[in-house]
Amino acid sequence: MVKIRKIINELDPYIPGRSIKEIASEYSLQKEDIIKLGSNENPLGPSPRAIEAIKGELDLISQYPESGLRDLKEEIAKYSGVSAQEVIIGGDGADEIIDVLGKTFLDPGCEFIVPLPSYMYYEFTLRTHGAIPVYGRWDVEENKLDVESVLGAITPETRLIFLCSPNNPTGGLIDKEDIETILSSTDALVVVDEAYFEFSGVNNIDLIDKYENLFILRTFSKVMGLAGMRIGYGLSNPRIIEYMHRVKPVFSLTNLSHIAALATLRDTDYLEESTRVSVESREFLYEKISRINHLKVFKSKANYLLVDVRKTGMNSSQIAKKLLEKGIIVRDCKSFKGLDDYWIRVSVGTIPEDERFIEVLQNILNES
Ligand SMILES: Cc1ncc(COP(=O)(O)O)c(C=O)c1O
Repeated sequence: MVKIRKIINELDPYIPGRSIKEIASEYSLQKEDIIKLGSNENPLGPSPRAIEAIKGELDLISQYPESGLRDLKEEIAKYSGVSAQEVIIGGDGADEIIDVLGKTFLDPGCEFIVPLPSYMYYEFTLRTHGAIPVYGRWDVEENKLDVESVLGAITPETRLIFLCSPNNPTGGLIDKEDIETILSSTDALVVVDEAYFEFSGVNNIDLIDKYENLFILRTFSKVMGLAGMRIGYGLSNPRIIEYMHRVKPVFSLTNLSHIAALATLRDTDYLEESTRVSVESREFLYEKISRINHLKVFKSKANYLLVDVRKTGMNSSQIAKKLLEKGIIVRDCKSFKGLDDYWIRVSVGTIPEDERFIEVLQNILNES
């Protein structure tokens, strides 16, 4: 029999958010009647300029993409306030960059630290490199990183430390002082995941010049409205970036993703409007959910809200299923380590989508 690596048998499957197409067929619904609040995407859709740019270049799909991506690196550098040698771009989103971090920095048996609960893909992908996850703690009630838990988890084997800010799924930010404390307590590479930084108005770019062990991870999947094009990027000092380029898949960013990314970065009106709409919608949704009996919602600096449903008499899977039957997709958080069976994460939609969600949720709770 064909032999597979031991770790492949041991992996817990990664459970991603569900798509509109899947839910439409599973629940016999029309696609137009489904509201997707499960994957923290941009409710406004992509930039019209990105669509226009792609349409104009469709014949490029017969050609291999560029691997140097100079113009896009320069545009990302300008957007981020760094230089182009400090940028690496991933063609399967920020998820690809996480894998490249693993390939570059993790030998089998090395450790990486993840506070729980946080983004589950770090552990999922890095374990395949034979590395060992060591857990810190995110204090959910305070929505704050337990910095001591991270410092206490550092050993001579630690190679990577993941700090997600705003944290997925809780929405809280990590204080810059806490990030600096961790950076200066270790030689490991500290990865600050800023996938949602635009919604928080806070970033940690200023620390790149100060700490050679800082890596900032970002994506075009959230405020930039390009989740389906799979574009992520990382920012760090040129030495780290150069090492990572040695192992990054050469052609992973497709021609069309390249074009869409450039057009979106240049569409500053779209980016401002997208940020404004999601932030307004987040505050609206927070207010509405906090008024519903038996639900506890947490303040968030991202484009989603974490909700504790335990007092409703239902668990997260039961509520998520009832919402799905009515065409609303939210994230059942039971697959997040560090959370039990009573949490859902709701992405912010447009205000009319939020209103429909609240109405349906209220009806479900009234009926139970
Ligand atoms: C915190 C965080 N980091 C990284 C990613 C990966 O983003 P991408 O779509 O670019 O792979 C996500 C996606 O949801 C995320 O929530």
